[in-house]
Amino acid sequence: MKISFAEPKIPTSGVVVFLIDADVRLAGIAKAVDRATKGALSRALNAASFSGKKGESLSVIAPQGREKLTVFLVGVGQANELSTLRAQEIGAQAYKVVSEAGASAATVIAEIIGANLRAGELAANLALGGRLRSYKYDKYLTKAGGRRGSGGPSRLQIMVKGTTGARQRYGSLGALADGVDMARDLVSEPSNIKSPKWMAAQCRKLANLGVKVEVLGEAQMRKLGMNALLAVGQGSARESQLVVMRWNGGGKDAKTVSFIGKGVTFDTGGISIKPAGGMEDMIWDMGGAGSVIGAMRAIAGRKAKANVIGVVGLVENMPDGNAQRPGDIVTSMSGQTIEVINTDAEGRLVLADALWYTQKRFKPDAMIDFATLTGAIMVALGREYAGLYANDERLAKNFVASSEEAGEKVWRMPLDGAYDRQINSPRADMKNVGPRWGGSITAAQFLQRYTNDIPWAHVDIAGVAWSDKEQPLMASGATGFAVRTLDQFVRNHYEK
Ligand code: BES
Ligand code: MN
Ligand code: ZN
Repeated sequence: MKISFAEPKIPTSGVVVFLIDADVRLAGIAKAVDRATKGALSRALNAASFSGKKGESLSVIAPQGREKLTVFLVGVGQANELSTLRAQEIGAQAYKVVSEAGASAATVIAEIIGANLRAGELAANLALGGRLRSYKYDKYLTKAGGRRGSGGPSRLQIMVKGTTGARQRYGSLGALADGVDMARDLVSEPSNIKSPKWMAAQCRKLANLGVKVEVLGEAQMRKLGMNALLAVGQGSARESQLVVMRWNGGGKDAKTVSFIGKGVTFDTGGISIKPAGGMEDMIWDMGGAGSVIGAMRAIAGRKAKANVIGVVGLVENMPDGNAQRPGDIVTSMSGQTIEVINTDAEGRLVLADALWYTQKRFKPDAMIDFATLTGAIMVALGREYAGLYANDERLAKNFVASSEEAGEKVWRMPLDGAYDRQINSPRADMKNVGPRWGGSITAAQFLQRYTNDIPWAHVDIAGVAWSDKEQPLMASGATGFAVRTLDQFVRNHYEK
């Protein structure tokens, strides 16, 4: 969807959205339209006992004197309690109501009396919300009636006093939306197309934005001793890849943060094969990598003054004559040995080598990994919160704060030596699964053994990378979870 900004003027035709606060006040342009229609808007607001609550909406079609106009009134809540996130939700709601009305283009008037956000900030965040809500994965719908490209406005105009400020702010928010969209595209892609090499090719496109992209193949990874990662991919006909993406916007003396993603392009479980029912969900088992790639795109797209490294381990987990077996013992890049009890606990094998590689080569000030790692985190937190683990209090606090600003929910989970002992093995330094209970925690303990005690956080996004129901800012499907949090986190803690 195309976003544009224009100076406010009184509309005479088309689809227009006015924002109404909890005191039910009509702002400048809305008031003018109300006058031109002999009070049609205020009559409708009265008749519907409109209270201006967030989420409330009302339509006024072809009011007398302005017959070519369709007006939507959208509630925003208390005008002095707005936040950027709330503005995004209002923009998303505006998109949704005009979309349901079948409009192909619409205008949102960014005027709220007594708003505690600057006009440009309000307008740009309304636009971001509309953009995020408009995402559709319709790439494979070919028929004319298949709704490809239809089912929602293709142009959204925001009218605001001072378009320069709004446009400038949307410059970086639009890049953020591009990053979220890219993560959602990657996660939605079917796995017949989405091989490790295909993923690496998508990463390479970020070079256009100034990201330095390096791709390691199996031969290079073997030389480095990444046998844990390689073991996962050895049953696949497709070559495993490790991609390093570097954005150096911060200059020499700036701190460096690194993001590491699990990129299992399809997870059959391997020889410990998964049941057939629902296995198609495993196309999104590269969601962690998708978030990291999307975040790199957002950060580079807005030319963030920060140094950020993204590393994604890309493999396909298949059963095959060459596949790894339960009972195999592999030596990871760190030198630590792992007894593979269950080949379906593959994500941690991939991340073990990706984490070790990242901290050995780059010595980052912090590492945060993202992975659709365990079904157990969905048992613990359902489909609403991601699980956060961290060995560093400040990092955990900062990450949670950024996630709250971004409107993505994460909940801190415990790490503890008592859980760590549960993955000791008599045959190797550790085994890749613990006992039945606390499966998300023992997975995190496993990863911690590859962090070398540098500040590290792990985010288990198995429950949130995909949503079966729509959310305030997005339709159902791939969520691009963590891209917005990471963008905010970099802004808050790594930018000069
Ligand atoms: N990719 C799965 C986890 C997952 C499950 C993600 C459902 C998204 C939705 C992961 O590789 C896996 O299979 N984990 C196992 C671990 C077990 C064998 C210890 C699990 O959670 O069952
Ligand atoms: Mn698995
Ligand atoms: Zn998996």
